[in-house]
Amino acid sequence: MSSTGWFETVAEAQRRAEKRLPRSVYKALLAGSERGLTYDDNVAAFSELGFAPHVAGGVADRALGTHVMGVDLALPVIISPTGVQAVHPEGEVAVARAAAARGTAVGLSSFGSFPIEDVTAVNDKTLFQIYWSGGRDVIEQRLDRAREAGAKGVIVTLDWTFSHGRDWGSPTIPEKLTPRAMASFAPEVVRKPRWLLDFARTGKLPDLTTPNMAGKGEKGPTFFGAYGEWMTTPPPTWEDIAWMREAWGGPFMVKGISRIDDARRAVDAGVSAISVSTHGGNNLDGTPGAIRMLPGIAEAVGDDVEVVFDSGVRRGGDVVKALALGAKAVMIGRAYLWGLAANGQAGVENVLDIMSGGISSALLGLGKASVHDLTPDDVLVPDGFRRELGA
Ligand SMILES: Cc1cc2nc3c(=O)[nH]c(=O)nc-3n(C[C@H](O)[C@H](O)[C@H](O)COP(=O)(O)O)c2cc1C
Repeated sequence: MSSTGWFETVAEAQRRAEKRLPRSVYKALLAGSERGLTYDDNVAAFSELGFAPHVAGGVADRALGTHVMGVDLALPVIISPTGVQAVHPEGEVAVARAAAARGTAVGLSSFGSFPIEDVTAVNDKTLFQIYWSGGRDVIEQRLDRAREAGAKGVIVTLDWTFSHGRDWGSPTIPEKLTPRAMASFAPEVVRKPRWLLDFARTGKLPDLTTPNMAGKGEKGPTFFGAYGEWMTTPPPTWEDIAWMREAWGGPFMVKGISRIDDARRAVDAGVSAISVSTHGGNNLDGTPGAIRMLPGIAEAVGDDVEVVFDSGVRRGGDVVKALALGAKAVMIGRAYLWGLAANGQAGVENVLDIMSGGISSALLGLGKASVHDLTPDDVLVPDGFRRELGA
């Protein structure tokens, strides 16, 4: 390992995250539901897509910048919101700083561990992610708080089916870190002294609360308390989504689209962006890998709405494949979480640099001057690759 903690690939960041994190925290990041079919296919499907590189006639200065959800991005990669706890003491603030340092936007989960005000203070391209939880009044209060904090856009995540079993075992997550809970975690924590030291230096243990699910300045419910509110809220209708977009009044993304008919409904609800996504394989297992659905959805609604993509992106070449198949930008989840676990803010910057380097290399090989020049002809798509759900 280099003395600076630098790593060369996301795969290496994942190996370091596994070494550094207590087993339960690592498993919580790994996630994936049930058999892990969707989780696996999200990544495997990218391997089926190919490139056919040129060797001369490339462009020296390749442009990576773009504009999505009303914000300029120095690279077409956005930090996807993840409601995770206890990865690193600086958590979402370190992630937001890293994104700002690399000129990109950060999605903050409403189940995240830092208040939105701390995140917008360090990144002026913050997108607040919300679930349909608690009903219209509570949601309006959360949107107002995000607006006052300076969030530039809202992401409503709709793909969740409250399925909890994992064949390879779900981690044990305590409701609160009481002395008793800490004693039961002691055996796995003592094996991870560097993780413990990082938290010990700050003088605080992870408190496992969700400050964005309460009013500004309040501690917020525990992760399970917040989850309980969400689980017991009746699922939204498309009218609710149109209401929410109206209540926000600015750039608004629906995250979690896998069907063409749902993409059209989102357009009818007036949203500015959709993310074609399978929640990283954490939702309904057996949904095909997200990249298989992207081309059909982009062809159907790409002129009416900004199409963003997430699920399975591990390298810059994956970003280029998604852009060629119709996405304006991608969002990354686990890739930056591994980076955060491996090396804090510098680790997330490292991951964004891996993405930029890989995008630039793929553009060079494809003879393209800009991410905006990519078209479906730039990737080799094997027969039978695409899945057009709800066509
Ligand atoms: C541990 C974990 C927690 C997540 N929490 C949230 C969340 O709170 N809100 C949300 O919209 N998506 C959440 N996601 C989904 C991500 O935003 C994103 O869709 C997914 O990670 C993309 O797949 P990838 O990890 O393969 O990049 C979570 C993903 C992971 C792995």
